Amino acid sequence: MGGVTIAVSPGSFDPLTLGHVDVIQRARKVFDEVIVAVAVNSTKKPLLSLEQRLEIARTALAGLEGVRVEPVDGLLVDFCQQVGANAVVKGLRGGADFDDELPMALMNRHLVGVETMFIVGDQSLAHIASSLVKDVARHGGRIDDLVPRGVAEKVFDALNVQNAHGHFDAARAAQNNGRPS
Ligand code: PNS
Repeated sequence: MGGVTIAVSPGSFDPLTLGHVDVIQRARKVFDEVIVAVAVNSTKKPLLSLEQRLEIARTALAGLEGVRVEPVDGLLVDFCQQVGANAVVKGLRGGADFDDELPMALMNRHLVGVETMFIVGDQSLAHIASSLVKDVARHGGRIDDLVPRGVAEKVFDALNVQNAHGHFDAARAAQNNGRPS
């Protein structure tokens, strides 16, 4: 690879977790620039708005030189071409992640020839998934040690809004958050 090397690290980031931050930091050791690509239209219905997901990621990653956060609308491969990415980078926690990622990697290569590189994250973070973080929070568990500083409150606030529709016990969650339950 000649010149500046650029990786695109895509995801829903609903919300960004400590596992994501670990993988992004590791990617930055390999590439000159890492662009964290926040999907505008995730196939999963996000809890957090695009603006919230972007703000969380930008705040949490602000101290990392060579890392920036951008929204991605439409096909990831179009974004990769626009920014001149050398590769897509995704983190792997285990075999199930690989099974999910392989078809996307092959499809993205089929579409424009972009390569996907996988980074194995810190094993101590391998249990952290955005979906599990939301589920733990939804049931009143502690999540502040799974996400960057200030993110837990935003997740609880968003669940509070959902509570208006009867899905969430906000009082119990607020009582438990930040303390072992
Ligand atoms: O964090 P996620 O939800 O596993 O990330 C999935 C994501 C956002 C990387 C994937 O859905 C994606 O690339 N979406 C953009 C639209 C696109 O390019 N779809 C075809 C992927 S093969």
